[in-house]
Amino acid sequence: MRTASILDRVAGLGSDKWRVHFRARQMRAQGEPVILLTIGEPDQPTPTELITATHRALLAGRTGYSNGRGEAPVLQALAAKYSARSGRAVGADQFIWVPGTQSALYLLLTALVEAGDEVLVADPCYATYHGLVRATGAVTVPVALRAARGFRLDAADLERAVTPATRLIFLNSPHNPTGAVLSRDDICAIGAVAKAHDLWILSDEVYESLVFSGPGAARFASPFDEPDLASRTVVASSLSKSHAAPGFRAGWCAGPAAFITRLLPLAESMLFGAQPFIADMATEALSREFAITALMRDAYARRAALVADLLGTVPGLRVHAPQAGMFVMLSVDGLGLDGETFADALLTQQLVAVMPGIAFGAAAAGMVRISLTVPDAALVEGCARLAVLAQQLAR
Ligand SMILES: Cc1ncc(COP(=O)(O)O)c(C=O)c1O
Repeated sequence: MRTASILDRVAGLGSDKWRVHFRARQMRAQGEPVILLTIGEPDQPTPTELITATHRALLAGRTGYSNGRGEAPVLQALAAKYSARSGRAVGADQFIWVPGTQSALYLLLTALVEAGDEVLVADPCYATYHGLVRATGAVTVPVALRAARGFRLDAADLERAVTPATRLIFLNSPHNPTGAVLSRDDICAIGAVAKAHDLWILSDEVYESLVFSGPGAARFASPFDEPDLASRTVVASSLSKSHAAPGFRAGWCAGPAAFITRLLPLAESMLFGAQPFIADMATEALSREFAITALMRDAYARRAALVADLLGTVPGLRVHAPQAGMFVMLSVDGLGLDGETFADALLTQQLVAVMPGIAFGAAAAGMVRISLTVPDAALVEGCARLAVLAQQLAR
């Protein structure tokens, strides 16, 4: 029977990209000692206070329907967070509460682009972005990130990719997979391109809280916080990474109040309100600092340094040190093969799973992505096995 063309457009753009990860999980289930360095699932448990808050809300009967926009306390908590961050008054009417960044991105893209439109997207980018854009009927126009610039998206490169069909710049800082953080100057230069061509900026800020500290550290910056860009900026984010709570599906859309009001009927058509007991937990999560955020940030920074120490001097490999996030990109093309071939060989021969760079875009085809979300000992062992394969291939 006939189906809508959206299914053809997204075919192959979903979980197919996680092929190596799923094969590794299967091997592990069969008893093989596979080390999984694939996905970005925090290795810390969700804080007990947040589990308790959810439990309390459940026992209090917070299990009925919500409303399309979200529970008032969590919207107020978001307004407080973004007011403090931007230094201007941000209202609760600038948010819609949704289950996770992924659904926020889907909602926002559906509202902003359609067939015939072009979306400027960094190459590489998070693996779901191509499916998200293609679902709307729009097309992605890849803008290659360059290692020489620390993988920070360059406004001049964006400018060159603009056509009359361009509608939106899709930003992600801190960036998955490279861990690059856009500086405030980068954001302003990108914003100038958006203003010159009257483009929307969609900013995926799910890694906001994971910018590494220390001397020379990057600082998080957002177009939402720039007064002259706020009217053309929408944000998608969540508690998945900041509070080690990906399974809670606790996220939000942020943007100009008038746009968010027009977005509401679309959100209501899609899900008409998320779970009140999750919103209660999130209100608590957003109300103060949680030690786990800094703990994870410092653990990922330490592990990224560990990877650089262990693999930085292996012939044929090149480690790209991240400024944030939970991943390290590693160039393997110096060994004379692409990232996908390397990832397959690594899993088969050394029982270590990493993500092939091609899952994130053509510009990363010569790389693999290593996840830092495992205990240090597993990461050290995984890197040691990876180095063995690299040394064999280099011979
Ligand atoms: C860049 C990026 N955006 C969005 C998501 C999805 O986040 P959420 O769990 O909030 O849906 C991820 C998850 O890994 C991600 O890396």
